[in-house]
Amino acid sequence: MVQEKLIDLLKEMSLEEKVDQMLQMSGMFYEDEGVLTGPVNTAGFTEEEIRQAGSVLGSVGAEKLMTIQREYMEKQPHHIPLIFMADIINGFRTVFPIPLAQGCTFHPALVEEGAAAAARESAAAGLHLTFSPMADLVRDARWGRVMESTGEDAWLNGCLVRAMVEGYQGREGLREKGRIAACVKHFAAYGAPTAGRDYNTVELSERTLRDDYLPAYQAAVDAGVAVVMTSFNTLDRIPSSGSRRLMREILRDEMGFGGVVISDWGAIEEMCRHGVAKDNREAARLAVEAGVDIDMMTNCYCKNLRGLVEEGIVSESLIDEAVLRILKLKNDLGLFENPYKDADASEEKALALCQEHRQTARKMAVETFVLLKNDGILPLKKEQEKIALIGPYVSNKEIYGAWSMFGSPDTTVSIADGLRNKGYEKILSAQGCGLSEGFGQTAEDSEKLLREAVELAKSADKVVLALGEHRLHSGEAASRADITLPADQMELFRKVCEVNQKVAVVLFSGRPLDIREISEKAAAVLAVWMPGTEGGNAIADVLFGDANPSGKLSMSFPYSVGQVPVFYGQFRTGRPYTEGVEEKYVSRYLDIPNKPLFPFGYGLSYTTFAVGPVRLSAQRMCRTDRLCAAVTVKNTGAVSGQEVVQMYIEDVHGSVVRPVRELRGFSKIELAPGEEKEVCFEIAETMLRFHDIHMNYVSEDGEFRVYIGNSSETANGASFVLAD
Ligand code: NOJ
Repeated sequence: MVQEKLIDLLKEMSLEEKVDQMLQMSGMFYEDEGVLTGPVNTAGFTEEEIRQAGSVLGSVGAEKLMTIQREYMEKQPHHIPLIFMADIINGFRTVFPIPLAQGCTFHPALVEEGAAAAARESAAAGLHLTFSPMADLVRDARWGRVMESTGEDAWLNGCLVRAMVEGYQGREGLREKGRIAACVKHFAAYGAPTAGRDYNTVELSERTLRDDYLPAYQAAVDAGVAVVMTSFNTLDRIPSSGSRRLMREILRDEMGFGGVVISDWGAIEEMCRHGVAKDNREAARLAVEAGVDIDMMTNCYCKNLRGLVEEGIVSESLIDEAVLRILKLKNDLGLFENPYKDADASEEKALALCQEHRQTARKMAVETFVLLKNDGILPLKKEQEKIALIGPYVSNKEIYGAWSMFGSPDTTVSIADGLRNKGYEKILSAQGCGLSEGFGQTAEDSEKLLREAVELAKSADKVVLALGEHRLHSGEAASRADITLPADQMELFRKVCEVNQKVAVVLFSGRPLDIREISEKAAAVLAVWMPGTEGGNAIADVLFGDANPSGKLSMSFPYSVGQVPVFYGQFRTGRPYTEGVEEKYVSRYLDIPNKPLFPFGYGLSYTTFAVGPVRLSAQRMCRTDRLCAAVTVKNTGAVSGQEVVQMYIEDVHGSVVRPVRELRGFSKIELAPGEEKEVCFEIAETMLRFHDIHMNYVSEDGEFRVYIGNSSETANGASFVLAD
């Protein structure tokens, strides 16, 4: 349909019909046979309101979805189709590693491939839109939702958010088969809740918001993301869903977003609990004035907008602009011509967990693993060594993260499965303890489990100890003040280490954890996050050296929770602390180091790489120039491997305090033993910009230092001067 026709359609719609388009209902209201029999009354909706809602949240499968769509369109006065949306966060039936892990790949093309596979599977199941990517910058490991972000760095997040949007949406328009629309969230700064507690207040300076938090959302907008979701939090004490400034002035006017804005679940109504709206009616007014087009799961819009317009409080033009954006999205997806889009029950079945998607999931999982420590005990030697596989994660198949409601343990590969699939027959395994404290066992059971594990550890050449936090201990509403492993697991760890010195910990988590003791005592530590459907196969690949780990931390592992938020791009202080120098009045802790245990960008390999000195194409750069910063990277070890070469820039002086360094480029390269490659990064003036003392987005003349290496702590640098 052409745009003019959409305007004609809008003109034909009654006010009530228009308001209906602005309501999103959950799929739970549609039960068998596409008949509305769900918990209609409990949420204060009438059956009629639900019947007329413009979009549905949730996946019901191709067949049922087609029935719902057909029945809906028959009754809809203008035969306007529904749009079906769901949270396809890290895969659909084939579950990929959690986004935080995907961040560790530093591999946008692979991340795009994963998103494209998720789009194909979910499009065949009839879905039109995913509530992904989450572009929220995260720096506080207590916050459970760090697992849904790609990490602590604005630049990396921007690259990966773009890759995800392009993976879901493609580059040929949303009508393309196997593509779904993307929704970037949660606008804005949801990733910075005070004290790491979910839904808590966000306090950010305008400059930090603009320099650090907005760029990843901007990357999504630039990539053509179809929808933006508001956040639950307040920013400058204004809830996002009612913030005209945020949604209209910043998102639409400054950032150039022209698509649909949807509230987060219940967020419009929550403005009453925030205390900025005295009732749902006022909440509806604030949200529509802010430019929020769809009300997810509350009755604020459907019960109040019509009255607000009829009483002249809200202009109908606000409703019209919102509905036009919604109709345009439906049209962009081609739903007027083909309301079922790619829904196809047989294709849904064929694509779900198909070999190709599983392969991508395995490859991606391998690249997300970060080898944090290795005293030479990895890789394992399959033929010669007797290996004990111990821990609550050995046979656990729930290794796909908190948001993967379409994944299933039945189709997931555990570590034990992975080892078996490699033909490692003599697996000696013991659970050792439960995943969470207590775990429904008696004290006797626990002792027995522990005893068996220790006996096994004694008899083995090496131990693979699979530990970690429960998958539901990260994700939404899963903040934790203590980010260590449960006591039972730590006891198991200590006891096993007492009887065997060769312990390799495989660590599952949805966030960076405090693993101080583990990193000291274990001979090797491999962080595998929540690796998804193919997790066990990928872990076996890495443990046996069939694949070489290449992941780099996308979020620092704190030394202890007392450091958080801790991230590499900290700001300079007037009293800097120099590691190892005893001084009193400096910015430091008395009891713990300033540095994280493992910094952003860090990760080992089974080989070693030497990064040569930084060579700049010039020592001076004017604004129209581009500089080349080059290094030679050599594989100095005995096996092939991939290295993530990272470029950081330090702005030595600024009109406002600048971060100690910022990532401005990365390149993942593969090198055979002895091979060397030249890596060249282009430095453009735009990469040096920030919000200056006057809040202008500019670069300032002066000295810049360029660091290139394989972690955010590299000291390998050279300087240039920016001057016109
Ligand atoms: C609430 C979450 O904050 C958001 O990320 C999600 O997309 C919606 N619920 C819909 O499930």
